[in-house]
Amino acid sequence: MNLKFLFPTALALLTLPLAGQTPVYLDNTADIEDRIEDVMKRLTLEEKVAMLHAQSKFSSPGVKRLGIPEIWMTDGPHGIRAEVLWDEWNQAHWTNDSCVAFPALTCLAASWNEDISYLYGKSIGEEARYRNKAVLLGPGVNIYRTPLNGRNFEYMGEDPFLASRMVVPYIKGVQSNGVAACVKHYALNNNEINRHTSNVIVDDRALREIYLPAFKAAVQEGGTWTIMGSYNLYRNQHGCHNEYLLNDILKGEWGFDGAVVSDWGGTHDTDQAITNGLDMEFGTGTNGLSSNSRNAYDNYYLAMPYLERIRSGEVGTEELDDKVRRILRLAFRTVMRQDRPFGSMLSDEHYAAAREIGDEGIVLLKNEGGVLPVKPEEGCRILVTGENAIKMMTVGGGSSSLKVQREISPLEGLRNAFSGTAEISYARGYVGDVTGEYDGVTTGQNLKDGRSAEELVAEAVEMAREADYVIFVGGLNKSWQQDCENSDRTGLGLPYGQDRLIEALAEANDRLIVVNISGNAVAMPWIDKVPAVVQAWYLGSEAGNSIADILSGAVNPSGKLPFTFPAALEDSPAHSVGEYPGRQREDGIWDIEYKEGIFVGYRWFDKEKIRPLFAFGHGLSYTDFSYGKVSADSRTMDADGTVTVSIDVTNTGDRPGKEVVQLYISDLKSSLPRPVKELKDFRKISLAPGETETVTFTIDKDDLCFFDPARNGWVAEPGKFKAMIGSASDDIRSEVQFTLEQD
Ligand code: BGC
Repeated sequence: MNLKFLFPTALALLTLPLAGQTPVYLDNTADIEDRIEDVMKRLTLEEKVAMLHAQSKFSSPGVKRLGIPEIWMTDGPHGIRAEVLWDEWNQAHWTNDSCVAFPALTCLAASWNEDISYLYGKSIGEEARYRNKAVLLGPGVNIYRTPLNGRNFEYMGEDPFLASRMVVPYIKGVQSNGVAACVKHYALNNNEINRHTSNVIVDDRALREIYLPAFKAAVQEGGTWTIMGSYNLYRNQHGCHNEYLLNDILKGEWGFDGAVVSDWGGTHDTDQAITNGLDMEFGTGTNGLSSNSRNAYDNYYLAMPYLERIRSGEVGTEELDDKVRRILRLAFRTVMRQDRPFGSMLSDEHYAAAREIGDEGIVLLKNEGGVLPVKPEEGCRILVTGENAIKMMTVGGGSSSLKVQREISPLEGLRNAFSGTAEISYARGYVGDVTGEYDGVTTGQNLKDGRSAEELVAEAVEMAREADYVIFVGGLNKSWQQDCENSDRTGLGLPYGQDRLIEALAEANDRLIVVNISGNAVAMPWIDKVPAVVQAWYLGSEAGNSIADILSGAVNPSGKLPFTFPAALEDSPAHSVGEYPGRQREDGIWDIEYKEGIFVGYRWFDKEKIRPLFAFGHGLSYTDFSYGKVSADSRTMDADGTVTVSIDVTNTGDRPGKEVVQLYISDLKSSLPRPVKELKDFRKISLAPGETETVTFTIDKDDLCFFDPARNGWVAEPGKFKAMIGSASDDIRSEVQFTLEQD
């Protein structure tokens, strides 16, 4: 172990000339800002410039002479990535760099549980800290604009309020370890196709109401120490050096005092990088994934080209000093902090956390006739079928790919859960993608199967006829053009002929349970023929155990969808009125206009009165919840006042369960078009059978606002509003009207 990493300050003390007393910057009791200023006085120009850019794939150099350690970063956001070589994407082949894979962020968002988000952040932060990382490259909060986006699985859904609430505890949990969160990809990175060349055209209102709130919450409420710029362009400037997004909004309006990190290969111009808010440049010379120029570090935009501009007097050092101060602030918050906990990895607690997050996020979409939970009777035979029942899902998908210590497959989890009570058999059903490798990490699985599609279907159907239950585990995977970075899906449908197989299984057995594993909505043309459907996400190391917890009823499902499942792709706004993937200009850039404006996700479906396959906020339980009538403490709100609404929720079933009580607000009349309703609060409650809880929400003026582009600010117009409380965006149980008074 390199002691320099563990005891940088001690080492620095030894190497410093004896000055008689501890320099301020090494005094842990001193104020961080004073320590920063002390370092600033000691740095040479060359040292400052060196701090601004990478020295390897994932590290920047720090300042050895002063004992300021290197800053090591890691992906993120679902587990700590395996170590790669100094200057390569290939594996370093360490034997102690396996991790616990936590569920994908879509699953976390589906938990609608802020405590679970803190647990997630704290646990992954501990793994990052133990691996000596200063920065965790995550979480991601780009809004789910289209179900085709290959990276939706790394994000927190379609609603800005939900994403804002869920991102904050994750950041706090990570940073409690002295590890910085790096919230990504700021901003408007809503598709993977043409990700380096898409120029997003979006109106100010949608920008403020839909695409920025989660980043703002990450900064102002979560206190994130770093932010990653995005690959795409906005106003014809790349996200990593975007004057409006970084200087004006992030650092100006929001007062962000941390460091802006480029996405890998997201920097394109020295002058813009100097002036437009980028602080740390990484991955230049790679497209972030498949191409790679070697040892290009001196040629980085913020390396020699910057130094030369300063030396020649072409640019001053004001921006440089601001960048360096931000990087030092990052160092003092992380690697220079003496009271940092040591972290831990691969602990029982982390596995337990992964399982709990999965248990809380799995969504029961449909359960007709009480097929679920599975109730094995004597001699019960369960057929498990589908490739995703056996395929490892932690490898693949791009930069979030992991090398795990273990991953429980759904088949294994179901076998664990039903051993002794049912006989479990398995049929492949279909062959999808049998490869299992990413950047040299292999699953070690051999999934090859030479049989034809017909043979596989025939076998599964024959076995299904003999079974008491059929559990089909399918969906997408982390391969190219599925849920995968740098590519988008090509359609909403399930790949590999799964629809045909599901139809055939449904005919063969009326106790068919479809478990869909994906980070995206999929079409379900067979929905009326299948009694039970479960949305299971990418669940990481404990995938199989979490799925079995839900299917067996050991855990009562309580997840709710963080995005809408459209019945058809054309129903979703980006594909109905918006542009995707846009129009290519002569210079090669793709203009992509978000013509749907603020009407993203359920806001669109409500407005157009389109029935989705499954609505935002939908998710069933094995128990039932009844809602009383909502009451309000007042029917009028002063400009600086509040209205408190309350509702009784009762568990009327016979098992304990959790319910997410959702508050939506509707503005009945406004000068600009507004969504039919918008999520403004929620609470996840736990109720024993027969138990009632009164859930109370306090509404203030901020909850009534919209962004008025004419005034460039948030406005709440006096008039009538409705508070709507329900179990899903399409299942409002009670509502009450109130009036916002004139100032
Ligand atoms: C991705 C980032 C990731 C980075 C480092 C990029 O390709 O867009 O999300 O953190 O690579 O692996």
